[in-house]
Amino acid sequence: MEKQLLHITVNNEYRELYINPKRLLVEVLRDDLALTGTKRGCNTGACGACTVMLNGVPVKSCSVLAMQADGAEVATVEGLAEGGKLSLLQRSFLDHGAFQCGFCTPGMLMSATALLKEIKKPTKDQIKEAIHGNLCRCTGYNSIIRAVRAVAEGEYKERG
Ligand code: FES
Ligand code: FES
Repeated sequence: MEKQLLHITVNNEYRELYINPKRLLVEVLRDDLALTGTKRGCNTGACGACTVMLNGVPVKSCSVLAMQADGAEVATVEGLAEGGKLSLLQRSFLDHGAFQCGFCTPGMLMSATALLKEIKKPTKDQIKEAIHGNLCRCTGYNSIIRAVRAVAEGEYKERG
């Protein structure tokens, strides 16, 4: 199949690359752009490990063709830390032990980051709803929810 030119902005960096139009967004992120923070688990849209933001909306990148992101802005977990500083949510995940193996963590962080951008102080139910498509097989969800709530409750501040 003839390759097509993909124009995409990932973590605020504009990229152009020729790809087979059948390739998935998760493949291009991981294999072409070396952004391996985005995980590939089930590959069927069920686990959420591959969650990224597409124009600010969380999507499962194993369920999106890369060409569907042509001209779009994509944010991955690598873009959360700015200038070497972890985001508030990343710090809270660390402090609350909100991961063990960490496989689900990038997807969880992207879903929760999108939630906090939309709703500053989400309720527990809203947090549960936001991460309901992200499966964790080890930590248990309580510590993840606590970590998100701590940020929502203003327990974390930007460091100067
Ligand atoms: S790898 Fe995409 S949802 Fe599981
Ligand atoms: S921390 Fe292992 S899957 Fe969530």
